[in-house]
Amino acid sequence: MSKKDIAWSDLGFGYIKTDKRYVSNFKDGKWDDGTLTDDDMIIMSECAGVLQYAQTVFEGLKAYETKDGKIVTFRPDLNADRMIDSAKRLEMPPFPKGRFIDAVKQVVDANRDYVPPYGSGATLYIRPYMFGINPVIGVKPADDYQFRIFATPVGPYFKGGAKPITVKISDFDRAAPKGTGNIKAGLNYAMSLHAIVTAHNEGFAENIYLDSATRTKIEETGGANIIFVDADGNIVIPKSDSILPSITRRSLAIVAEKYLGLKVDQREVTLSEVMSGQFKECGLCGTAAVISPVGRINDHGKEFTFEAGMESMGKVTQKLYDTLTGIQMGTIEAPEGWIYEI
Ligand code: PLP
Ligand code: COI
Repeated sequence: MSKKDIAWSDLGFGYIKTDKRYVSNFKDGKWDDGTLTDDDMIIMSECAGVLQYAQTVFEGLKAYETKDGKIVTFRPDLNADRMIDSAKRLEMPPFPKGRFIDAVKQVVDANRDYVPPYGSGATLYIRPYMFGINPVIGVKPADDYQFRIFATPVGPYFKGGAKPITVKISDFDRAAPKGTGNIKAGLNYAMSLHAIVTAHNEGFAENIYLDSATRTKIEETGGANIIFVDADGNIVIPKSDSILPSITRRSLAIVAEKYLGLKVDQREVTLSEVMSGQFKECGLCGTAAVISPVGRINDHGKEFTFEAGMESMGKVTQKLYDTLTGIQMGTIEAPEGWIYEI
């Protein structure tokens, strides 16, 4: 085995084609055995369900090289569970959990040379997804589906890595109270594209979406959950039924309590508490984002800058970051069942 000749530390969050991907097809009411393939192209009907009515769900997780040279993934069982929930909500046949985990392992193992070296700041991003593939013209679920996983080496999601970003309060809504905000459906991201382009054009790194019913409560960003640190140094996590149940955020809640001895309060968080300075630190957390510090929030021209400022992560955010990434990269002992060695 020899690593690919890639400038690992210069990688951003982009796509690089790797050697192997996994594919399994659902036809006549069942999933086939699935296989690894070299073929990165997908041929489908012009009328495929995914193309007409966006019947697609996905996942995101990472593989890491640890300090002692092992390759591991982080809690893939939770990605499998969440993809099952996503599939059910879009009337798709769930891909079985055991097979999901096995397929993740196969893809990582077949692309070991693309797993960025320990300490490079890059990781191997793994993207499982599935979609309706047979022709669908009346609005109804497809009959046939394809499940795939590819992997691609990535660097930080936000330019500048750990440097705090400025985010805006979006004028657009991401999720309705009884909509699909709590699953990982492509449609949630399609409808966020105009909002993110708008935010970028205005010079912001991301959008914070509010609850669409009252537009007073903090939900999440387009691709990450949000955490706050209060004046006592404890963690406050916005609670909502219309945000994605982030695996990073759920893990951080455990890390904060069990490793750092912090209190974790999961409750509704209002925009007005945030803008009136109730919190000292703010971070965006997710597989791609890891924990990206938010330095400043802009609500229609009114700005709030967190105590840690725009130069570096706040102290508590940094501790959370170091502990979580230490667990993922094998320098800190993980809770039972979090790390899957390839
Ligand atoms: N929220 C949204 C909208 C996301 O797309 C993601 C990314 O997966 C997250 C939160 C973070 O979830 P996780 O930590 O499971 O990656
Ligand atoms: C992830 O963190 O895995 C995501 O899916 C977020 C996406 C916006 C890249």
